[in-house]
Amino acid sequence: MVRAAVPDSKSDTDVLTPRFSVRSRTMDVQALQADALAAVAAASSVEEIDAVRVEYLGRKSALKLALREVRDRETGMALNAARLALEEAVEARAAELARAELDRRLTEERVDVTLPVGTYRRGHLHLITQIRREVEDTFLGLGYRVVDGREVETTRYNFDALNFPPGHPARSPLHSLFLDDERVLRTETSPSQIRAMEAEQPPIYVVSLGRVYRRDTPDATHSPIFHQVEGLAVDEGITLADLTGTLDFLFRSLFGGERRTEFRTHYFPFTEPSIEAYVSCHVCDGDGCPVCRHSGWIEVGGAGMVDPALFEFVGYDPERYSGFAFGWGLERIAMLRHEFPDLRELWRNDLRFTRQF
Ligand code: PHE
Repeated sequence: MVRAAVPDSKSDTDVLTPRFSVRSRTMDVQALQADALAAVAAASSVEEIDAVRVEYLGRKSALKLALREVRDRETGMALNAARLALEEAVEARAAELARAELDRRLTEERVDVTLPVGTYRRGHLHLITQIRREVEDTFLGLGYRVVDGREVETTRYNFDALNFPPGHPARSPLHSLFLDDERVLRTETSPSQIRAMEAEQPPIYVVSLGRVYRRDTPDATHSPIFHQVEGLAVDEGITLADLTGTLDFLFRSLFGGERRTEFRTHYFPFTEPSIEAYVSCHVCDGDGCPVCRHSGWIEVGGAGMVDPALFEFVGYDPERYSGFAFGWGLERIAMLRHEFPDLRELWRNDLRFTRQF
């Protein structure tokens, strides 16, 4: 057994471990080492091994204090050997505990992908977007192309090119939203007819869908911003029968043939002859109610044969080509299809409503 010399100390309070006795001025290195190794083995967490390290190898540990005061070679070697052995044991145990800790966390914090989870509602496209895509798909299937229009139009495209006479009410700021004298928020998707025809030569089969703006007071069937689908077909030998056939096809694909449709003669500056399409009211089924203003029918949009004046505007030969055009309101289609009485519901963004579609 090696007896180590111990430093002089002023008082008993300097005694750090029972093995280090000021009174005896000696230290049982082997016993200290055995103690320390036992403590190392007993440490069961990273915190505990850190505490053991401080206690037995820290700056104020008995071993370090003894090393500082060592006077003879033999004691120095014994203390250093003990220090080395202890350091190794502490490091090994610390690494072991750290690994165990990591293992434990990996196990405990593992996500069990087989556990049932709470249900999340997935969002979905707004009803108008759904209908818009459906209409696009229907016409793509018929060989049409989908083209974009502009929401800010010039009065030239929104009115002049479409043959609106100078005093037409739609040209009034009471009916339309002007940005300045020459620019207006498009009141219909029809200007895209002109842009499509200017861009290429017949045959032309296009649809164009988007927002339009009118100075309308909102009510069950009106909104100052709504959506239209515009259709245009220009070719040789197109007749009114092609138009009504196409519209019948669209109605059947949208409403499944459950509702009656009716075409009435009408007037639009850019079609001749012009018709308006009506679908039997979904609320009263034609009997008359406030939603259809007691008529039994709801107007879904206009249509007609392209007026030759438009062909002249874009430089087509009106003797050679004929065409039809139509424009429907998507909100009205949505109402008629899902039988809700007020189109304002669509833009209230009440999830209880929009979620249903
Ligand atoms: N643009 C017309 C409207 O908004 C509808 C329409 C389009 C009529 C194409 C005829 C041809 O009421």
